[in-house]
Amino acid sequence: MDLVPLDYRIETERLTLRMSQPDETDFVWDATRYAGFNDGMMWNKPESKEELDAFVGNVPERWRSGDGYLFTFRDKTSGQPLGRIVIERRCGGWNAGFWTHPKYQGAGYASEALAAILEFAFETLGLNQVSACHADWNIASRTVLERCGFRFKVHIEEGFEKDGEWIAQDSLAITRDQWLANRCSEKTAS
Ligand SMILES: CC(C)(COP(=O)(O)OP(=O)(O)OC[C@H]1O[C@@H](n2cnc3c(N)ncnc32)[C@H](O)[C@@H]1OP(=O)(O)O)[C@@H](O)C(=O)NCCC(=O)NCCS
Repeated sequence: MDLVPLDYRIETERLTLRMSQPDETDFVWDATRYAGFNDGMMWNKPESKEELDAFVGNVPERWRSGDGYLFTFRDKTSGQPLGRIVIERRCGGWNAGFWTHPKYQGAGYASEALAAILEFAFETLGLNQVSACHADWNIASRTVLERCGFRFKVHIEEGFEKDGEWIAQDSLAITRDQWLANRCSEKTAS
């Protein structure tokens, strides 16, 4: 796989996706101040901006090593950041994860960003399969994944730990062949 340049940019109908930047801390911090925002995610509500930055880690280093690509998706016209989406190596496979700032949820942005990231995964990175997990109660996340062609694989009763409690997770996946088939049928339908 060729190196993906740090200034790599993906454009969709409404969004621009680029590598997440350190000056976006306030935007991410603001999202985490909304009640329940972190409940479905494996990372906890941070206590400080320093803790948040430490959790996000060295984004360019992971990008350069080909280990993980964290993108921020923005409104193409205004440049307003709307959310983040990652595709990264985890447990021997490639996983996607995403969130939309609560102010901008319900407008189809996560679905649009995920569709773009699947194209990046299969066409640019040349992957054969992408997986994703969600807390089993997280219907919004499930809706986004299924809309982009992910299919249920397995239920994990002890998925991840949150405040000392196990959260059950569902794991979904999409293969390159399934993605290509969906793309063909979309083209045929339009
Ligand atoms: C999950 C999440 C990323 C979705 O982002 P989004 O930009 O709102 O997603 P979209 O608008 O593309 O699609 C969401 C869909 O879920 C639906 N939805 C939202 N909440 C729902 C609920 N409680 N029950 C059923 N459907 C729900 C929306 O109506 C929408 O479907 P529609 O377009 O058919 O109306 C967002 O809710 C989020 O950031 N949540 C907090 C972080 C998180 O849980 N991330 C996922 C970790 S796996």
